[in-house]
Amino acid sequence: MATVLYQGTAVNPESMDRLEVLEDCTIAVSDGIIRSIIRSGEPVPEEYAGCESVDFEGGIIIPAFSDLHIHASQYVERGVGMDCLLFEWLNRYTFPQESRFENPDYAKVIYSQVIYDLLLHGTMHANLFTTIHYDSCDLFFRMLEESGMYAYASKINMDMNSPDYYVEDTAASLAETECFICEHTGSKLSGRVQPILVPRFAPTCSEPLLRGLGDLAAKYGVGLHTHLVESREEAAWAKELFPQFRSDGEIYEQCGLLQGTGPKIFAHVIFPTEVEKDILERYDAVSVHCPDATTNITAGIMPASRLNDSGLRVAMGTDVGGGHYIGLYRQICRAVQLSKMKEFYEPEYRRLRFANAFYMATAVGGSVFGKVGKLEPGYRFDALVLDGLQDDGYTVSVEECVERFCYIGDDRNIVCRIMNGSIVHPEEVLDRILEL
Ligand code: GUN
Ligand code: FE
Repeated sequence: MATVLYQGTAVNPESMDRLEVLEDCTIAVSDGIIRSIIRSGEPVPEEYAGCESVDFEGGIIIPAFSDLHIHASQYVERGVGMDCLLFEWLNRYTFPQESRFENPDYAKVIYSQVIYDLLLHGTMHANLFTTIHYDSCDLFFRMLEESGMYAYASKINMDMNSPDYYVEDTAASLAETECFICEHTGSKLSGRVQPILVPRFAPTCSEPLLRGLGDLAAKYGVGLHTHLVESREEAAWAKELFPQFRSDGEIYEQCGLLQGTGPKIFAHVIFPTEVEKDILERYDAVSVHCPDATTNITAGIMPASRLNDSGLRVAMGTDVGGGHYIGLYRQICRAVQLSKMKEFYEPEYRRLRFANAFYMATAVGGSVFGKVGKLEPGYRFDALVLDGLQDDGYTVSVEECVERFCYIGDDRNIVCRIMNGSIVHPEEVLDRILEL
């Protein structure tokens, strides 16, 4: 495929502590992959002579975001019931809403909005919760595949402590999960969207269900996505239900759910004990910081910088509908804000800097999908172009523009979206997925 030269000022999350600003650079892209980045003043190599070029004229190019924890089925309940705590919110809003996905026609209405809005707000890679319903999840998987996004998505599992109208039989849950994995892997698919095991959380999953899922992890190598030590009440309840294990994390490990080669992704991780930290390290697991959600459900504040400092991987998620906003960029702002509150109340805690949180939402999150989330040669060119972030009479730096976008920007500041090396329009993707 021909090379395209994209020109603009790029901001690359180079490392946890450093945003690299590439003023007036040229990004050479072919087959969706960044081949080279030519810095301002450097000669454009001969091989690119005559290639199409696209000039973003003052736009700032950043990598697209990776949302590692979002409940697609809860999209339309975002911003509602936000004065509840976790269990009240699940029972009053979430379980009744998720039960409606028994009908795939209904699922299509919601899931199409989710994919459209993710792209609109610059998220091109996502790890998504759904519901227990096979047909709706199958449809969603096909919609994600058609969208061109990278994603992990499956049906979820829950066989106890759930309402009568929204609960699974253990054997059926396992059989359907195995079928889902088999039907959604293989050479006929792009490989961009992959199944993953999604037990809702330990309190709604019996030990036979978890052990059965562990067998599937061993048999098919699939990864794990669930909630971990998300609030004091949840951690205490899990311990009460599973007294034979030392903590929440050990339940998943001992039931075999971490045996797969796929990523192990844990949302929240607010109260990790030494047992959890050891498990996170041994399995190279990713903890997902969802600041809005843990505020809304009053779970607490994730010790993100502490986990980062001990070498653990921490990414970002919106956790919609526990979180209320789909733009992952706002979670970058919220992560910094909450870390300052934590530092205020616990002076020994070190707050996050903007560069840290931006790196978590792009490079760390992207790492579970392969080479995405950075603007470097060899990475898939999934990027956003930002504009409209300067005021008259006051100039901010390129890096500050990106920070300002995370604090006060929205989809109107994303003037172009490039996915897999080509400009993408969310409305066109929406038309295509509605055809399925
Ligand atoms: N824990 C179990 N289920 C959920 C859910 O749907 N959202 C959040 N935030 N936490 C959960
Ligand atoms: Fe969640």
